[in-house]
Amino acid sequence: MSLDNCRSDFPMLQKMMHGHPICYLDSAATAQKPSVVIDSIKRFYQEEYGTVHRAVYEIALASTEAYDRARTKLRAFLNAKHDREIIFTSGCTEAINLVASSFSRAFISEGDEVIISQIDHHSNIVPWQIVCEERKAVLKVIPALDDGSLDLDAFERLLSDRCKIVAVGHASNSIGTINPVREIIKMAHSKGAKVLVDGAQSAPHMPINVQELDCDFYTLAGHKLMGPTGVGVLYGKEELLEQMPPYQSGGDMIDRVSLEKTTYADLPLKFEAGTPMFAQVIALGVAIDYLTAKGMDRIFQHELELLEYAKPKLMEIDGLRIIGEAKNKLAILSFVVEGAHHLDIGTFLDLKGIAVRTGHHCAQPCMDRFSVTGTVRASLALYNDKEDIDRLVNGLEDVLKKLRV
Ligand code: ALA
Repeated sequence: MSLDNCRSDFPMLQKMMHGHPICYLDSAATAQKPSVVIDSIKRFYQEEYGTVHRAVYEIALASTEAYDRARTKLRAFLNAKHDREIIFTSGCTEAINLVASSFSRAFISEGDEVIISQIDHHSNIVPWQIVCEERKAVLKVIPALDDGSLDLDAFERLLSDRCKIVAVGHASNSIGTINPVREIIKMAHSKGAKVLVDGAQSAPHMPINVQELDCDFYTLAGHKLMGPTGVGVLYGKEELLEQMPPYQSGGDMIDRVSLEKTTYADLPLKFEAGTPMFAQVIALGVAIDYLTAKGMDRIFQHELELLEYAKPKLMEIDGLRIIGEAKNKLAILSFVVEGAHHLDIGTFLDLKGIAVRTGHHCAQPCMDRFSVTGTVRASLALYNDKEDIDRLVNGLEDVLKKLRV
């Protein structure tokens, strides 16, 4: 399957915004959905819908099989060893909260240390702040260098044998840096620390192999992977998940309940309390099929080519400064322009049918690091092309003329 013309697979990209064909440059916030995913959701609710794990009738058994098949697809997408290492959650945020809450109860005590990074998303900062406060542990932060990459020398100095877990994004949603997680994982493991990699931003744009990375946990956001909202994934190594207590409790996560004592279900159900979001999970499986057929390597290359095409054009704009110029980065262009506020730029671009995100991108410590209150962020995906970049650059030039008078 080719990436050419794949834009036509996405109904939202055929729409108009303020009378212009939509130029969608906000895939880091959420990705548009191909028709195969949208159609599968309608078909499931209309023709196939039945509960999972609770009933013996035909449609329930078929739903259960479809739910289990989706788990296998996610296992293959991440190259995890076993299906039981794949836990479905309501999103990437819940996946990180699950680990923060459950891992910390099993493994973090007073005086232990947790390490995060300065360019992480709030969802990989706040849960660890809460954990450290509750368990009287120490939170340490890997600083970012001027180009937006992480300072690994500083990381080495921060890392002690009191560190229980390093939680770090695979790629920054706000400035695009791809972090050297393999190296980080090796360094952390040499001190006995575990590593959670937040893959919300990376997994939609590059191949991921959790066994090769040797990470202990990896998290995904379904809606950024062209799946529906309300679904996420936690990969965890089996031996760790086995040692961790349940996160939420209720139906489905039990083995036997009596009023005196409850024993828990085996993995993965131990971590999936309640009726799961199975319609979303099954549709996420369809999105994974779509991405896999396109080829994650090709998606990565396509987006990098667009990044290389866009960078010099943007840098020609007077007063424009790109924030985040690490050598390894995703196709995320975060920038500020002298004499024009990011919010005003975003508002005027919207009138031209161009969708970008403005503000702090849920990464205020990262904005603080670069002494900005926010940026304009254009984030690309497989359905973008050079015409989108041209529209952004031309649109910006025009908007800046108006804003700078
Ligand atoms: N994490 C999402 C973003 O980067 C919401 O916009």
